[in-house]
Amino acid sequence: MTLEEAKKRINTLTAQINTHNYQYYVLDSPLISDYEFDMLLNELILLEKEYPLLILPDSPTQRVGGEITKRFKSVKHVNPMLSLSNTYSENELKDFDRRIKNILYLSEVEYVCELKYDGVAISLIYENGILQQAITRGDGVQGDDVTVNVKTIRSIPLRLQGNYPNKLEVRGEIIMPHDSFYALNEEKEVAGEIKFANPRNAAAGSLKLQNSSEVAKRNLDCFLYFVYTDTQLYDTHYEGLTTLRTWGFKVSPHIKLCRNIEEIFVFINQWEVARKTLPFDIDGVVIKVNRYSLQELLGYTAKNPRWSIAYKYKAERVLTSLEEISYQVGRTGVITPVANLTPVLLAGTVVKRASLHNADFINELDIRIDDKVYVEKGGEIIPKIVAIEQSQRHAEAPPFQFISFCPACNTPLIRNEGEAAHYCPNFKDCPPQIKGRLEHFISRKAMNIEGLGEGKIDILFEKGLVRNITDFYRLTYNDLFGIEKGYFNEQENKERFVSFREKTVENLLEAIEKSKSVPFDRVLFALGIRFIGENSAKKLVAHFKTIDNLFKANFEDLIAVGDIGTKIAESILAYFSDNSNLQIIDDLRTMGLQFQLSDEAVNDTIISEKLEGMTFLVSGTFSTPERRKEIEQLIEKHGGTRITAVSKKLSFIIAGENMGPAKEEKAQKAGIPIISEQDFLRLIEEE
Ligand code: IVH
Repeated sequence: MTLEEAKKRINTLTAQINTHNYQYYVLDSPLISDYEFDMLLNELILLEKEYPLLILPDSPTQRVGGEITKRFKSVKHVNPMLSLSNTYSENELKDFDRRIKNILYLSEVEYVCELKYDGVAISLIYENGILQQAITRGDGVQGDDVTVNVKTIRSIPLRLQGNYPNKLEVRGEIIMPHDSFYALNEEKEVAGEIKFANPRNAAAGSLKLQNSSEVAKRNLDCFLYFVYTDTQLYDTHYEGLTTLRTWGFKVSPHIKLCRNIEEIFVFINQWEVARKTLPFDIDGVVIKVNRYSLQELLGYTAKNPRWSIAYKYKAERVLTSLEEISYQVGRTGVITPVANLTPVLLAGTVVKRASLHNADFINELDIRIDDKVYVEKGGEIIPKIVAIEQSQRHAEAPPFQFISFCPACNTPLIRNEGEAAHYCPNFKDCPPQIKGRLEHFISRKAMNIEGLGEGKIDILFEKGLVRNITDFYRLTYNDLFGIEKGYFNEQENKERFVSFREKTVENLLEAIEKSKSVPFDRVLFALGIRFIGENSAKKLVAHFKTIDNLFKANFEDLIAVGDIGTKIAESILAYFSDNSNLQIIDDLRTMGLQFQLSDEAVNDTIISEKLEGMTFLVSGTFSTPERRKEIEQLIEKHGGTRITAVSKKLSFIIAGENMGPAKEEKAQKAGIPIISEQDFLRLIEEE
């Protein structure tokens, strides 16, 4: 390829991919399959590698990130980023409307109602249609330059379309949709990290990540709601929003022109209910005067525009008593304080406990035992204590003291510099930590030992039968048969009874035996090494193949593996430097667990990366059930992903005989190619 040809191809690919991104992430109507999209992107990545000088400023390859920012540059806003005055009261909203009409000497004013997205405000600067800078709100006067991170957000255009002005500033809210939020917290849970309290915090935390390729994985989204231009191109905010759409921005469809306060209340009431159906959080409605000339007349106070107000939805809130603070010790030793409340009905459920997160949280609220506290259920599902009724505090109530010793094992707690959580360092002997590790070990995604659910582990632990994970493999029929005990099931809130009868014991021993063939990556995950989740375990195993290789790896070897960062690497080194851990591994190995890729697994592991980034659904019947399994394995061996339902993410359906007509129709509607077994084999054939 000549330089000229490369340039032409890079230009075409960049434009095409940007269009497809827009179709998918802004318009939600993809024109091509994920597979075709990935093919275009891969081609561009290769070309850019070969001709780095030809990379365009709006290259979609920036979306995958990779750049590391140690410290975000502080930048002054051209136009200060003000916040909105807000209210929870209908009367105050009526006052707002009245005040505006008075100032303007008008009997009618037109407003725009929008949703109030619960995320992080962002200012985007475009010059000649190219995204130049993305700045957080900061203190309103200056914020942080998070451009590299924001470029990974697929719905934010890197280059504008249509008839845009040369200089442009748009503002909007970066949000994390519920799906992404739950998935992220689940990952955090598995890795033993502290979870985000809500999607807003998660969005804010994500924007400040140092590694932009991590941001790319967070699935952030952005709605735009405000625009500054040098010359006035239109007369109203509503036209501004619709024009933003034509330039390629994502503007919510849920905006409404209202001619009077009654129409505003209709919008507010409608969304108070309908917000439960949105895939992201909103915390109210924003009302803006529509005509720019009127906005200008109204002007600004020191902090807020006078032409806009936010009406916030009240979270349901009740008053109850804090009876006691108890503490939970997690499997990694993190101590979580929990408020035990006098049970109270809130938004349809009885609430009797609420997380108090950590010592800082308690200190900030200055919570004391026997206080009357307000408990709220906002957008989030878990109730939280939001305030204290000071007027009802007992005069002699002493300030609350966070414990300094582990509630379970009495070891002095530690708190690392810069961390909010207290830890119990008695990793080896602290009972809840041990039980947590045992529970993690047998869990479905780890060793998947069925029949040892809640209650049973507790009993085996108390009886001294299982003290560390190796003990599962020492259990005998005689150890177990006849054990009986009642226990309290927290979730069901009632007493339950376990008894190890003949069949229970046989099934359990069989399940334990079966777990010996669980593949190495899941064994590695099951060990419960801090920060090693399912995925990092897979990556490590694919790379090192055996536990001995992993054991021999030094820091550099470890971080050379994709997705393994310094935190994980340090955690692995610490784990292997402890002799008792080596003993556990040795024992488990003697007992027959998998500590290397089996021959079969070696065959199972990636043979090629031909299908990297593609997703497949296998549907219908094939010549034999084994054939179907083989196809499924081939997908994974070549780096593809298998899913089980038709979705936008799907690249191909591999159809056997008798594929369900509903599925077929759905796939055709979504434009997903349906291919045969032969077509599929051709995809992975050697050239
Ligand atoms: S307009 C000058 N519109 O709420 C007015 N803000 O305190 C600029 N927000 O900082 C803001 N949804 O982060 C506006 N539809 C919306 C909004 C919105 C959420 C946030 C924004 C702002 C805060 C107001």
